[in-house]
Amino acid sequence: MINVLIFGPPGSGKGTQSVKLAEKFNLTHLSTGDMLRAEIAAGTKLGKKMSSIMSKGELVPDEVVIAMIAAKIDSTKDARGFLYDGFPRTVAQTRALERMLNERRMKIDSMLVLEVDHDELVKRLAGRAELSDRPDDKDTEVIENRIEVYKEKTEPIINYCRKRGIYQPVDGMGTVEDIFVRLSYHIKKLK
Ligand code: AP5
Repeated sequence: MINVLIFGPPGSGKGTQSVKLAEKFNLTHLSTGDMLRAEIAAGTKLGKKMSSIMSKGELVPDEVVIAMIAAKIDSTKDARGFLYDGFPRTVAQTRALERMLNERRMKIDSMLVLEVDHDELVKRLAGRAELSDRPDDKDTEVIENRIEVYKEKTEPIINYCRKRGIYQPVDGMGTVEDIFVRLSYHIKKLK
């Protein structure tokens, strides 16, 4: 059972690539952003509470997403492994994931970090705003805030994982297909 983090700033292509990688390697794709948006779409109490935080581009509380991930891991039967997209986003979430996996005799096998220029991130997210109804893509200030929040709260995870020998940077510029080939190369080595 392998556990791989697909990591990178907003707009780096985590979601796009995770869907393709999950299919190719028969892994379960866990996206906390998608789980939270599903709560909002279903009009749950939790979704209502999280919606205003997300529309500002801030992070929801650690305990909310940690509980979501734990529930998904436990309810997924016969998985060959998990791809984490948008989780963890803080060092506290990373420690919680390590504990969770350790208790289930697993570990984080690799952290694949998509590296994309700032201007390209903004371009991709502004492009998606035209097509999707994600409120956090509609406003340039919110896009910039999400990138800032990533730098401040999420990027420190890279150093944490580097010390554990699982950090692997991946060029996230270019076509979706080229980036998919680069990521696949690293996942193949884990199997
Ligand atoms: P989340 O849903 O995780 O969003 P995000 O990290 O901001 O990431 P995005 O979905 O915007 O980008 P992505 O890297 O997946 O890129 P994508 O493939 O979509 O989180 C949303 C919010 O939920 C957070 O702000 C927070 O509030 C909350 N949240 C979620 N998880 C949390 C957690 N763990 N803790 C706390 N809060 C949490 O691509 C983007 C666009 O670019 C698409 O239109 C795509 O078609 C296009 N594209 C992709 N690749 C390429 C390419 N190579 N060339 C050109 N275009 C491309």
